[in-house]
Amino acid sequence: MSAVGHKKGHITVPHIRGRKGGDPIVSLTAYSAPMASLLDPYVDLFIVGDSVGMVFYGMDSTLGVTLEMMIGHGAAVVRGSEKPCVVVDMPFGSYQESKSQAFRNAAKVMQSTGCDAVKLEGGMEMAGTIGFLTSRGIPVMGHVGLMPQSVNTLGGYRARGRGHAEAKKIVNDAQMIADAGAFSIVVEGVVEPLAKKITNAVTVPTIGIGASAECDGQVLVTEDMVGLFNDFTPSFVKRYADLGRLVERAAEAYGKDVRARRFPAVEHCFRVNNKNS
Ligand code: KIV
Repeated sequence: MSAVGHKKGHITVPHIRGRKGGDPIVSLTAYSAPMASLLDPYVDLFIVGDSVGMVFYGMDSTLGVTLEMMIGHGAAVVRGSEKPCVVVDMPFGSYQESKSQAFRNAAKVMQSTGCDAVKLEGGMEMAGTIGFLTSRGIPVMGHVGLMPQSVNTLGGYRARGRGHAEAKKIVNDAQMIADAGAFSIVVEGVVEPLAKKITNAVTVPTIGIGASAECDGQVLVTEDMVGLFNDFTPSFVKRYADLGRLVERAAEAYGKDVRARRFPAVEHCFRVNNKNS
């Protein structure tokens, strides 16, 4: 079990909560210690998303992600980071059954990883659970709009809230989970006017992904942002690098060197007479 304690300059849940309407909150996903360490100085908030199932494990959806996987990746990100607040996703099936199931599993995630908070998907149907967790010491980030764990009931990953009734329901969902105690809400895949309505309707910061600049902060899946996840890049993603291409070029050059016996060279080999190497 990792030690639970606050690192120097660490951004806390109350700090994120207090950023409503202030400087935009900068958030990225992270799944590993080295990536968290590289991103650390530049972000306020890490979300250890269950998107790890698709991005890291090659799954078709997030439904197969387990609590153990989230704990492993959450603990790695906490070990690799110092400054950002770290929020770990509760995977599908680990919190929907009952309030006590949600508490038991969320407490396990908090204790095992040392993260600051958990995130769970859902609107009014999860408000009772969010109230139960937050009143018992577990900070919760909500997630409304496009909810990938509901892909089978929503019928796909299309943007939500284009129709009046659906838009109204999503605003109501956000209000209910904010009133229940969520300290912040991820708003995914909604049209700009709806993102604005949600952001104005709740007193906690909204973090948008595919939800326009009208939110209090933004999050992207890091692998999308740096070009490391090439299966599909959603239209709302801005690519800031093409690391996938760099990895391909490096592998190609390595293969050529090995086949031509250029690698390993002398400087990469241990010497018999050098006790320090
Ligand atoms: O799983 C994920 O990556 C997410 C993002 C929207 C943060 O939930």
